[in-house]
Amino acid sequence: MARFGVLSVAVLLGLQAALLVSGFDPSPLQDFCVAVDEPKSAVFVNGKFCKDPKLVNAEDFLFQGLNIPGNTNNKQGSNVTLINVDRIPGLNTLGISLARLDYAPYGLNPPHTHPRGTEILVVVEGSLLVGFVTSNPDNKLFTKVLYKGDVFVFPIGLIHFQFNVGHGPALAFAGLSSQNPGTITIANAVFGSKPPISLDVLTKAFQVDEKVIEALQMQFKA
Ligand SMILES: *[C@@H]1O[C@H](CO)[C@@H](O)[C@H](O)[C@H]1NC(C)=O
Repeated sequence: MARFGVLSVAVLLGLQAALLVSGFDPSPLQDFCVAVDEPKSAVFVNGKFCKDPKLVNAEDFLFQGLNIPGNTNNKQGSNVTLINVDRIPGLNTLGISLARLDYAPYGLNPPHTHPRGTEILVVVEGSLLVGFVTSNPDNKLFTKVLYKGDVFVFPIGLIHFQFNVGHGPALAFAGLSSQNPGTITIANAVFGSKPPISLDVLTKAFQVDEKVIEALQMQFKA
């Protein structure tokens, strides 16, 4: 009897652990929880406060204008239009968002990560060299050239990029598994932080001369 009890507890704990590993963007506890801005004095909540369901309407679930290309006239030659909970308040607690990605010829969406979301991308126009790198110690690169209609997945948290290798512009759309996936662009975070990371840290980390670090920091100064 006692042994059975211990076993049941162990099984229950195992089950609970299995449920806990999916501990982010949890399933909603209601049909919807349309986001409202936090009252000025409020404490932070994990997500946003919910609008009174009686006041919710179709507009809370609508975004218009994703047919309009982003302006790619910048150094990288790319533009990401992210439709997250800030653009569609109805996405609050639903664990999903959408992006439109425009690339000029040879435009690059530079190496970056989404700390809170896996990304699934479909190429609608043009061709893209894409890739992601696994975590330490392997740092293995998974890479492909994608053409119109091809779909590729970038797992949550891993560094990835897309580069337009076609002669014309390219267009892609992506779904992300968070209402607020977040983006960390590697070069901007490391060389463009405010205030800058100490030269001692960066020269040692990258094993190069101070001049190289200073040149890089100049490129990513906001
Ligand atoms: C992306 O395009 C939008 C809309 O044209 C523009 O407002 C924004 O500044 C662009 N972003 C970059 C990084 O060029």
